[in-house]
Amino acid sequence: MKKILVLNGPNLNLLGMRQPEVYGSTTLAEIEDQCCAHAKQLGVDIQCKQSNHEGELIDWIHETRQTRAAIVLNAGAYTHTSIAIMDAIAAVERPVVELHLSNIHQREEFRHTSYISRVAKGMICGLGTHGYTLAIDAALRILEKED
Ligand code: DQA
Repeated sequence: MKKILVLNGPNLNLLGMRQPEVYGSTTLAEIEDQCCAHAKQLGVDIQCKQSNHEGELIDWIHETRQTRAAIVLNAGAYTHTSIAIMDAIAAVERPVVELHLSNIHQREEFRHTSYISRVAKGMICGLGTHGYTLAIDAALRILEKED
């Protein structure tokens, strides 16, 4: 069974109450439930994790070397700052689909740069929570193509 890690970065644990005009009113728990339901339909083994800590996110990215998972990653603000997360992705050579709820290109200038995009297979942004199921579909297709 194909394995996909859905990884969420800083402040995404506050979804639902955090700037709902930007990020919507769905909580992270609800998004993770949607991801699990979608994965069940696809017959995919999915694991959802969230951390506010850069090092912990990096440790989990490293772990995908053993599990051979693809990664759906919303790195939150680390997207725009973290060379360390970019390097971790490059190091483990697992496919990453980058994801953002908001359209980062319509927002402040500093959000237009993504270190993750330099190493991700592709990126989905601006489609809200629907982006997660689209990203899982994309990750699965990439894993199937690898076989
Ligand atoms: C985000 C966009 C980032 O710029 C921001 O820092 C986030 C969430 C999104 O999902 O739209 O925390 O990744």
